[in-house]
Amino acid sequence: MNHKVAFSFADGKTLFFPVQPNEILLDAALRNGINIPLDCREGVCGTCQGRCESGDYSQDYVDEEALSSQDLQQRKMLTCQTRVKSDAAFYFDFASSLCNAAGPDQLRATVTNVKQVSASTAILHLNLGNAGQSLDYLPGQYARLLIPGTENKRSYSFANRPSASNELQFLIRLLPDGVMSNYIRERCQVGDEIALEAPLGAFYLRHVARPLILVAGGTGLSALLGMLDELAERGCEQPVHLYYGVRDAADLCEQARIQAYEQRIPGFRYTEVVSEPSPHWTGKRGYIAEHFDVAELRDGQVDMYVCGPPPMVESIKTWLLAQALDNVQLYYEKFTESNA
Ligand code: FES
Repeated sequence: MNHKVAFSFADGKTLFFPVQPNEILLDAALRNGINIPLDCREGVCGTCQGRCESGDYSQDYVDEEALSSQDLQQRKMLTCQTRVKSDAAFYFDFASSLCNAAGPDQLRATVTNVKQVSASTAILHLNLGNAGQSLDYLPGQYARLLIPGTENKRSYSFANRPSASNELQFLIRLLPDGVMSNYIRERCQVGDEIALEAPLGAFYLRHVARPLILVAGGTGLSALLGMLDELAERGCEQPVHLYYGVRDAADLCEQARIQAYEQRIPGFRYTEVVSEPSPHWTGKRGYIAEHFDVAELRDGQVDMYVCGPPPMVESIKTWLLAQALDNVQLYYEKFTESNA
């Protein structure tokens, strides 16, 4: 059976292609039009190197001039020597244009559902239909949607994992007067067609080998729901702690879905934090970093995924620096309110 492989690049593009059993990864990439820069093809020069972000693989020969033992520990690999043993994702520290690779897919989807799920959030369900379209993406990535009746495009993280049903979900922040917000409130109907381009972005779930801390600010929850769906589906042996921060308790959404992860992911914990609560709020108040469980951070031996507005991401980076938690592997995605 073929394995599905994703190549992500420094410009945020991700390309998917099938790899045959025992096939050299470079051969599969070239066969699919992805011309990874190469030179020796013998595991010596290091030109074709990347890093495995998830999945199992082996390498035939790696010269120590090409990759050191430390590189290998960090899952760096040579495309010309690698064979995958499962579905896998690899990252390359250069732009996809170097490979003459095609960009993201241009697709059309149909609205199948739209509903408001909190005072400030809606969830939009799209389906790509059966017209031979399908979309591969990595949980955490995003799509750019062309808002019907306008020339405006907005970016939204997928709130679910890729599925054979071709269903796509997005959390949308409802602004008092935003282009997408107005469309959702005033005109959006089941059956509407929406053009989109995807997949985009370098924020996605990597190989899970350490405890995970997931931190969402507002509709940043969307990307993390996609990751949690993936962890629930494929199984996760590491503890997972989701922190979810909003301005007011009425902004909290998808609570039943989050609670259900407690059954679906062993070791799942959930903490919600409200920054400007009403006097009746009895839960945690303030900013997320004030409520991190320091013991759980295990001297930084965790992977942390943060998705939210820039000030939130910056405050978490500052907090990690102040705590000297240099070993935390931090992945983050910042988005601005204009994206709503
Ligand atoms: S092309 Fe030289 S190491 Fe792969």
